Amino acid sequence: MFSSFILPALLAFSLTSPTLALPKVDALQLAPPKTVVIDGSRMLEARARLALGDKKLRKALGALTKEADSWLGKGPWTVVDKPNPPPEGGVHDYLSQAPYWWPTENKTDDNPFGCPYVQRDGVRNPDVDTATDRPDIGAVCNSVPSLSFAWYYTRNPAYAKHAADILRTWFLDPRTKMNPNLQHGQVIPCQNTGRAIGIIDFSQMYTSVVDAVAVLNTGAPGWTKEDADGMVQWNKEFLSWLVDSDFGKTEAAAKNNHGTFSDMQVAALALAVGNETLAKQTLLDSRHLRIDTQIAANGSQPQELVRTRSFHYHTFDLVAYTRLASIGKKVGVDLWKYKGPDGQSLMKAVEFILPAATGEEEWPYPELEFYRYAASDIVHAAADAGNKKAKKAVKKLEVPPKGDLWELRPAAEQLDSIAG
Ligand SMILES: *[C@@H]1O[C@H](CO)[C@@H](O)[C@H](O)[C@H]1NC(C)=O
Ligand SMILES: *[C@@H]1O[C@H](CO)[C@@H](O)[C@H](O)[C@H]1NC(C)=O
Ligand SMILES: *[C@@H]1O[C@H](CO)[C@@H](O)[C@H](O)[C@H]1NC(C)=O
Repeated sequence: MFSSFILPALLAFSLTSPTLALPKVDALQLAPPKTVVIDGSRMLEARARLALGDKKLRKALGALTKEADSWLGKGPWTVVDKPNPPPEGGVHDYLSQAPYWWPTENKTDDNPFGCPYVQRDGVRNPDVDTATDRPDIGAVCNSVPSLSFAWYYTRNPAYAKHAADILRTWFLDPRTKMNPNLQHGQVIPCQNTGRAIGIIDFSQMYTSVVDAVAVLNTGAPGWTKEDADGMVQWNKEFLSWLVDSDFGKTEAAAKNNHGTFSDMQVAALALAVGNETLAKQTLLDSRHLRIDTQIAANGSQPQELVRTRSFHYHTFDLVAYTRLASIGKKVGVDLWKYKGPDGQSLMKAVEFILPAATGEEEWPYPELEFYRYAASDIVHAAADAGNKKAKKAVKKLEVPPKGDLWELRPAAEQLDSIAG
């Protein structure tokens, strides 16, 4: 970490050094982005280190811009173009189908969905990706952060303008916007018109968009004050729905990873709209509601141990926990230090997956598709939080297919597919 004295000096150097191809930055942009999960000052530091030619960061930036470039020709996306709007809603309502539920009959004119449906845990029904908004919100939540962060570190306006276009189309333009609720998430055909657990479609990715918006708010070209205000308003309405609706309450009461993600999303949105009291209370409650109940004394997550993709789901829940811990730092709740009544803690939960994450031991529990790199960001998070074993393990991590982006966006993301 740079001291507060050195940082301005580095930035001044980056502005004047003729050998570096980084564009000029104005004074407004010397303030850290007001990200709610990521520590914005780390992004500012990373930019200074890039300006000084830091090789590791340059490599990460190469991976980030490659990813951002791949989005430039794609999107924007909208909820209004789906072929079959939800039966009880309209085209502006988000609709998705339950990923692990499968038809048992052949599809016919009389039975177009092949009902009844049965569940096959961890086995994804490809129909889910055809007629609904689920793949589109996935593209929004992946592209907007890539593009926004790529703009932040390169100042190439094309990245910011495309991110702005995607955001306006999905969230703000009255002709194409999504209504700020999830009444029709993870529908099971012939059984219901939406379920509380559909909230995971957003909670597993949307807070990265919230941080990306904060990055754009530092003066991105093509992103106006009106756009920024529009996102705050959308987030306020979405947060109210999450807190007050039956689905939102049911999801918050979930005793598995859905509950952790619910807390993480509520806390992030609360901070983003200026409700620090709610953010802090959510963090305080999560110690007992999530850590005490979902993490065992040996650091395992017993509910996820018995699943067909137990390693994936251990990392998945830890993405939510470590992001919650990152939010906690901003409201004075240190989740990393918390210990439950049996001694359970986030540190132990990370240590439980370390031998498999480093490749030193095989993961001995059920796993249909093992990806060692799925744990990479989580180990980084624990290492930065001071865990000595995690610090040692960082060198042995498997680099994710899209590169190790931790230093450029220091908040854990799910690095294997979260298409579920
Ligand atoms: C669906 O159709 C295939 C091919 O026509 C047939 O073999 C199969 O038995 C049918 N399945 C059901 C559940 O009716
Ligand atoms: C924060 O959120 C809580 C729960 O929804 C609400 O009761 C309270 O009024 C909010 N506070 C502010 C300042 O918006
Ligand atoms: C850890 O604890 C869980 C829950 O008590 C148990 O199922 C699991 O077998 C334990 N694993 C190890 C390696 O001790």
